[in-house]
Amino acid sequence: MSPKNTILVTGGCGYVGSHTVLSLLQSGYKVVVLDNLSNTSSNAKETVIPEALKRIQQLLSTEEAIPFYAVDIIDKDALVKIFEAHRDIAAVIHCAGLKSVGESGRRPLDYYNINIAGTIKLLQVMDDFDVRRLVFSSSATVYGDPPKIPIPEDSPIVASMSTYGRTKVFLEHIIRDLCIASEVKQKDYEKEQNAKGAKVEKDYRWNAIMLRYFNPAGAHPSGIMGEDPQGIPSNLMPYLAQVAVGNLEKLTVFGQDYPTKDGTCIRDYLHVVDCADGHVAALEKIGRDESTGEYGCKAYNLGAGMGCSVLDMVRAFSKAVGRDLPYVVSARRLGDVPNLTADPTLANTELNWRAVKTLDEMCEDLWRWQRNNPDGYRTRQ
Ligand code: WQD
Repeated sequence: MSPKNTILVTGGCGYVGSHTVLSLLQSGYKVVVLDNLSNTSSNAKETVIPEALKRIQQLLSTEEAIPFYAVDIIDKDALVKIFEAHRDIAAVIHCAGLKSVGESGRRPLDYYNINIAGTIKLLQVMDDFDVRRLVFSSSATVYGDPPKIPIPEDSPIVASMSTYGRTKVFLEHIIRDLCIASEVKQKDYEKEQNAKGAKVEKDYRWNAIMLRYFNPAGAHPSGIMGEDPQGIPSNLMPYLAQVAVGNLEKLTVFGQDYPTKDGTCIRDYLHVVDCADGHVAALEKIGRDESTGEYGCKAYNLGAGMGCSVLDMVRAFSKAVGRDLPYVVSARRLGDVPNLTADPTLANTELNWRAVKTLDEMCEDLWRWQRNNPDGYRTRQ
């Protein structure tokens, strides 16, 4: 893929999605955004342009609105209309989906329906419109409790830990199966055409990249874009940010009896801007592969390759805020595994991508965003 192509970003008003839209526009791509706005206060369906997209325009100093559709991926007719209206869509970056681990256990049918059935509908419509390039938001959670740290991409994908995690595992299998089947379909078609002495005009093959995010964190360095979770955050970084801004009293550290250096879980935190740039790198990789006739499905870890414990993070974020943030230690949280640290070598070499931002930048950027926007996108500018 090269700049000037139009990319559909599903979930483009969400945390990773919106930063990805910005990276794409900054790299010269055209973007169409689909989002049902279920997970953001960038909300207000009555407004024409969601706040996250307005902030992107503000950052780019442009009056030009990003084409936006308030649509559910489960609504196939609406998807068809978007592809009809934008015949130049060359690829899809698919970030839309439900993503709360805790909630997924209570609402399995919604998670399977929206994440899996919704994605299947999207893939069907893409196939119908001959758009067969996909970058998919997967997650490190597909590795479950991995046998080896740092985790390479060929580690088994199991995700017995949560319903949410299983939706990602199933979707990886679905996308891989689709890529394999499309190569067979292409071979059969070419055989048929050759037998008829007709020209081979169509290409049914899919090219998909699954990006297994580790823990995206931080915010855009401008302080005008960031994560805007609804209600009480369940993830560490947005929770800490709410403690810092005074909306929550103290952090509860879930367990200090893990087999790690300080007893708390280790994660691989990744600056959201690095994560967003990983999507652009994936599109470019698809373009390079196509030019050499390479099709199929690949998975890459998007992580910094650096393990950081919960207490490391409390210290790093306290430093950015300039005071010690209060915390208590409680029991383990169900489903947490001791260590998820990426081996990002494959992404470094094949995607020409690496996480370049430091933990301190991540914390400073998050704090700038939270301080300037104590109520997220509802904060008046
Ligand atoms: C990080 C660490 C907690 C909150 C999940 C999903 C993953 C991805 C990101 C994507 C853990 C500890 C947390 C708190 C704590 N989701 N913690 N107190 O669980 O690594 O990953 O979010 O859409 O797929 O599984 O991230 O930020 O929730 O937790 O002590 O209040 O912080 O136990 O060790 P996690 P997290």
